Amino acid sequence: MPQLLHIDSSADLHNSVSRRLTRMFADTWRGQGSGHSVVERDLHRDPLPHLPDAGLHYARRLRTAQEMPDAAAEALQAELIAEVIAADVVVIGAPMYNWSLPSTLKAWLDYIHVLGTTVPFDTADQPLAGTPVVVVSSRGNTYAADGPNGGQDHTVPPVELTLGTSLGMAVTVVTAELTLAGRIAPMAPLAAKAAESLAAAEESVQHLARALG
Ligand SMILES: Cc1cc2nc3c(=O)[nH]c(=O)nc-3n(C[C@H](O)[C@H](O)[C@H](O)COP(=O)(O)O)c2cc1C
Repeated sequence: MPQLLHIDSSADLHNSVSRRLTRMFADTWRGQGSGHSVVERDLHRDPLPHLPDAGLHYARRLRTAQEMPDAAAEALQAELIAEVIAADVVVIGAPMYNWSLPSTLKAWLDYIHVLGTTVPFDTADQPLAGTPVVVVSSRGNTYAADGPNGGQDHTVPPVELTLGTSLGMAVTVVTAELTLAGRIAPMAPLAAKAAESLAAAEESVQHLARALG
């Protein structure tokens, strides 16, 4: 029974591009057979509290004597980690907010990135190693490496570093850019490029959902 964990973080519940693309991924996934199940976690509709205690960044055996996180926070962390470990594939909507990622998604990363539990530290344990994760990045502008905003995308790099470099997950990034072309008048001439970017992203998420399913 292949299971998808479908995560959204956009604060836009009406016209979100990342939500449209993650939904397309999940629908394509479901379309592959009744055994293809989906677990949804909407980090905007149902936000996590910010990480309440630095001790949660470490497995219990690695904490100092002063680090005694609240039992409810530990239980929430265990639930989030178990949820992602149970997934065969993960898709994450990651809009660019102020050159960075939504705080709701950052909170989720803070809970699941745990030295000695999900990240190898004093042992080689890396339970998420190899799990495919598709990160759907939507952004109002363009951040092409060779353009004037090259190097200013601080949304995707921390997600790739956390999930890929540290947790060992197999990260694929799908980008839809120039999403504000239809909203900001001076960007109107970029509408065709925005449509092109969205069409390519739609094709990518459908292809990936089939390939990973
Ligand atoms: C709080 C906020 C901050 C934003 N900051 C940026 C930004 O720094 N750079 C950018 O290109 N677009 C920015 N945008 C535009 C969004 O990236 C764009 O609307 C994107 O499509 C949002 O994803 P969504 O469509 O899935 O909601 C911002 C939007 C919001 C709501």
